[in-house]
Amino acid sequence: MELILLLLIAYLLGSIPSALWIGKLFYKTDIREHGSGNLGGTNTFRVLGKKAGLAVTLLDILKGTAAVLLLLLPFFETVGVHPLIPGALAVIGHMYPVFARFKGGKAVATSGGVLLGYNWPAFVLLLIAFIIILKLSKMVSLSSMLVSIVGLLYSIFYYFQTGDYYMIIMIGLFGAFIFYRHRANIGRIKAGTEPKVTWL
Ligand code: G3P
Repeated sequence: MELILLLLIAYLLGSIPSALWIGKLFYKTDIREHGSGNLGGTNTFRVLGKKAGLAVTLLDILKGTAAVLLLLLPFFETVGVHPLIPGALAVIGHMYPVFARFKGGKAVATSGGVLLGYNWPAFVLLLIAFIIILKLSKMVSLSSMLVSIVGLLYSIFYYFQTGDYYMIIMIGLFGAFIFYRHRANIGRIKAGTEPKVTWL
């Protein structure tokens, strides 16, 4: 019973479509009709500006972190599942949100949030890698995909240091989600038409 409730809450947390709700509530704009149409931080930056973009990115990160931290609640103490499980449910919720007709984001920020809740130094490391790659490439999509490869390499290194192979599973799975959800971006990158950020 506790396990089912945990999975449900994690999925519902991930399902919160912050880009849609912030856009509609504060800007009277449905960002699905603008820019790339994606319900994510990048498209919110693009369509609604820095303040909204930052708010959406932070909220999307926090959804993932919150899903992992659910396990610290006394009610869920006995469930005994790895944080990867509620974390994955939150990322699935973010990609396929029940509150937005199952059309959500591209898994990046919420995956980052899960990692933040599970292993914050790894999150900080990958955030730095992301910023460096973004500064060089100016493409958020490309940076997101490349950082998931960096993350996978790091998790293998981490395994040899600590014996924790769950990081490999987690980052491998989230990386697969990220690549799958960026199919259209990959096409645009190949065609040289992927939008570049101007603010970095
Ligand atoms: O996090 C999503 C980002 O990597 C790409 O977003 O709107 O440019 O497709 P977008």
